[in-house]
Amino acid sequence: MSQPPVSPATRAVRAGVPEPVHGAPFRAGPVMASTYHLLGDVSGEWVYARNGNPTWTAYETAVGELDGGRALVFASGMAACSAALLALVQPGTTLVLPSDCYYTVRQVADRLHGVTVLTAPTRELADLAPQADLLWLESPGNPGLEVCDIAALAAACPGLTVVDNTTATALGQSPLALGADVVVSSDTKLTTGHSDLLLGHVSTTSETAYAALADWRRLTGGVAGPHETWLAHRSLATLGLRSAQACANALAVAALAEEHPAVLEARYPGLPSHPEHALATRQMSAYGPVLGLDLGTAERAQAFLSALRLVDEATSFGGVHSTAERRMRWGADAVGEGYVRFSAGVEATADLVADVQQALDGLPALAP
Ligand SMILES: Cc1ncc(COP(=O)(O)O)c(C=O)c1O
Repeated sequence: MSQPPVSPATRAVRAGVPEPVHGAPFRAGPVMASTYHLLGDVSGEWVYARNGNPTWTAYETAVGELDGGRALVFASGMAACSAALLALVQPGTTLVLPSDCYYTVRQVADRLHGVTVLTAPTRELADLAPQADLLWLESPGNPGLEVCDIAALAAACPGLTVVDNTTATALGQSPLALGADVVVSSDTKLTTGHSDLLLGHVSTTSETAYAALADWRRLTGGVAGPHETWLAHRSLATLGLRSAQACANALAVAALAEEHPAVLEARYPGLPSHPEHALATRQMSAYGPVLGLDLGTAERAQAFLSALRLVDEATSFGGVHSTAERRMRWGADAVGEGYVRFSAGVEATADLVADVQQALDGLPALAP
């Protein structure tokens, strides 16, 4: 069925869904298989389920279409990130990594042997990009929400540029169109958005990178389950709706917090006060569901979290339920003790804003 030109949110509804066949369901169920009939030669697409699965292919077709590349699904976001780091970085080469990106990615980079790893804060990567055989970017950064110029940094990098697009998702930002070679995503977050599965994917415009990553997945074998992959594909149809509501809620909460006397700083790329607001507006089509609130001390942050009634205290982000946590309880990021990472869900905006307002109103005043 030929389709008119449509927006990415509309494309997400149909991406990877088969052509209509009379009497067939819109989407077949997950293919629960380890083994396929394999007669004679080892040929064809389905030889063994560690190599490939039709349910993976449907999801990969969908996320690849949304990213503008060729995709591979992985068992988690970290499986996707570590595949990119371990399959695409060679001994003797230079990896340039933000010192403020998702901390588990930094921990994997720390374990690379024979690789020169250069790090700098996201906002200072321009100096290192020309030395990179592989340049890792994360924009907006988790948890600090720094935004970097993907097109400029990719142009300055002589090697491969990889962008962790978890916070924005394929509907909020298109790193491959901006010149990056590889996108990685934790689809555990907003892409699937129901807090009920772990999944990740990599998309790339490079055939060489695709082959290396597919080989890595087959060799290491910690692959995605068909049921999770099928659920993830189902969730894609509502990504546009979920993202629109979550981003509207994030902006409303950030705007409230910015004006509230109990808050030292509200960080959100959609706020005009964010240092890279103009860049984010140019580079992103939605600012994402995550914001940061600096409440000064661990005690005030914890009191805020306890006072919220519609927001669950939990790690992770991008789910339909609003969640928040004091980020320094993990001890791994360069944020203050009172920094709360807040993930806006899809609740009615007025309800969420009222809940945040009452929780902030109840905090003791900041020491002058
Ligand atoms: C930016 C970013 N990348 C990757 C990951 C890893 O994803 P997963 O938890 O699905 O392994 C996370 C998880 O929080 C993340 O925030």
